[in-house]
Amino acid sequence: MCGIVAIASKQNDIADLLLDGLTNLEYRGYDSAGIALLSEQQLWRQRCIGSVKNLRDKLQLPKMNAHFGIAHTRWAVRGGITEANAHPQSDGKTVVVHNGIIENTNDLMKCIPDAIWESQTDTEIVVHLISHFVNKGQSFYEATRNTIKMLVGTFALVILHKNFPNVMIATRKVNPLSIGKMHNIGFFISSDVSMAPVDSFVDLADNEICMISHCDNEFSVKFFDSEDKELPYKIWRKANKITTSSSKGDFADFTLKEINEQPNVIQKCIETLDNGDYKHVSEMMKNKDFINFFGCGSSRYAGLIGKYLYEKFICFTNVTIPSEFNYGYMRNPNESLNFCLSQSGETLDTLRSLEFIIDSRDVVVITNVANSTMSKLAIEHSKPIIDICAGQELSVVSTKAFTAQLAVIVSMLIEFVRLSYSESEAEYLRDKFGEVPKMLKNVLQMNFDVQWLLESSTILFLGRGICYPIALEGALKLKEAAYLHAEGLPAGEMKHGPLALIDEQSVCIALAPGYDNFEKIASNVYEVIARKGKVMLFTDEVGLSQFAESNSDLVKVITLPNCMDVQVAFVYSVAVQLLAYQVAKSRGTNIDRPRNLAKSVTVE
Ligand code: M6R
Repeated sequence: MCGIVAIASKQNDIADLLLDGLTNLEYRGYDSAGIALLSEQQLWRQRCIGSVKNLRDKLQLPKMNAHFGIAHTRWAVRGGITEANAHPQSDGKTVVVHNGIIENTNDLMKCIPDAIWESQTDTEIVVHLISHFVNKGQSFYEATRNTIKMLVGTFALVILHKNFPNVMIATRKVNPLSIGKMHNIGFFISSDVSMAPVDSFVDLADNEICMISHCDNEFSVKFFDSEDKELPYKIWRKANKITTSSSKGDFADFTLKEINEQPNVIQKCIETLDNGDYKHVSEMMKNKDFINFFGCGSSRYAGLIGKYLYEKFICFTNVTIPSEFNYGYMRNPNESLNFCLSQSGETLDTLRSLEFIIDSRDVVVITNVANSTMSKLAIEHSKPIIDICAGQELSVVSTKAFTAQLAVIVSMLIEFVRLSYSESEAEYLRDKFGEVPKMLKNVLQMNFDVQWLLESSTILFLGRGICYPIALEGALKLKEAAYLHAEGLPAGEMKHGPLALIDEQSVCIALAPGYDNFEKIASNVYEVIARKGKVMLFTDEVGLSQFAESNSDLVKVITLPNCMDVQVAFVYSVAVQLLAYQVAKSRGTNIDRPRNLAKSVTVE
């Protein structure tokens, strides 16, 4: 979602640094971009719809000796995708970049009836409020503090003001913002410093204000808490930079690269299991009657796969949709053990659920980003964190992070079985889990005939048991990557309604491993063929030996490795990812950054 970069620099390549910073944030997803620079004499800004590259190509940089600059990638929430709505927002005096959403914008607009509005954004209210307070004689700091006190919602803000050309202010509430030091150069502020050219950094706390000033060619920084007390010090942490340049390697895109990384990612998780890293969590699971997963999108589906595995071995397991839980539509028993699943650790819906339960429930955060907002919250409350160790995932379409979440879920299960059942049962599961990387390597060699999908009007993924959440995940991948409408269904539900959709134009993708209830899903397939619907049957040799329609023109059989439930979770998930990828390739979509979507979803 939106990305912020801001720089205080002694050097004159500030625009380049800002644009490089934006390029590093592109993975978050966005639809417009912009930049502003401030010098003693001039406030300059340029914005455009589309990519950072567009902005770079269009850039008409004036000659100016700027020490401060701010830049932004916007993912539209309030106000359409237009240049006027792109950030930085400005009234010619105050200039602002903003992540988050100001929910009381309409009310606040009444406080400044004379303001002239340039955009439809909520951000512009911040611009007008700060200018309003400065015009009344307040300092830049006071104007910022008084403005943020009035805001309801979430924000990360970096602000410049023409009357104060030697100061830059940053502040935040909920949306992350970090201040980095660039040795001998100045400061670099970003929504994600992991790829920024900084030596060390600090994270701003909620409602803290950071003020960077320039004097005699040196910069100084001050931090103020929400009570306006200057903080005597902040602990600067050493930056461990992640570099992504050329990291696509030989792959056409990040999605394909990340799909192919999965055997190694799972192997790494198996090694973590062998190191005994899951013992503590399995102890937590031991006397629980209720386990709950919170997660959105693919993370939710990973939780649903967990439900099928945990209900078999552990206890009643629920999966809660955070955006439904947060506003009182769902309950969570006092004695529950809750796993918050989030690749990014930033998804606001999941973060809100975590905030609601963190003081009163047992919670474990499972994420891929050690420095994420959820991880920090867990640390503050002494709650365990499990790092899924997938390595940075750049494609918006989650693949390796999804299977790494499954690997953690399976690892916790194996440790639980060791603790509560028997060593031999745990070892049996461990051995089966250990076979997964090799199985995935075989799946990754497959090429699917996707023609039917390219021509179809209705695509249904069908699964039973653990394959039902995989069907949901397959449909989500096809929507995101290939922009095709697909739904995932429990196969047994077909006859209760969806069967009405079946005709010559429809395709069902049946996920049907042979080891469990194959004959039941086979019946659902026969029902589809009988109504002239086409079927792509993902099964194995065990399933195939029981299938009566393999010669039908309406069926394409895809033979996957023979596997049992723990393995099915990975093998069938990777197969549907690869299928979605190959369809997307045929349709020529922007797979790494699908339209309208963001990697890190920081609005509700
Ligand atoms: O970072 P999170 O795991 O919290 O993200 C949750 C969803 O936004 C995410 O899984 C989304 O559904 C992916 N784009 C799916 O590919």
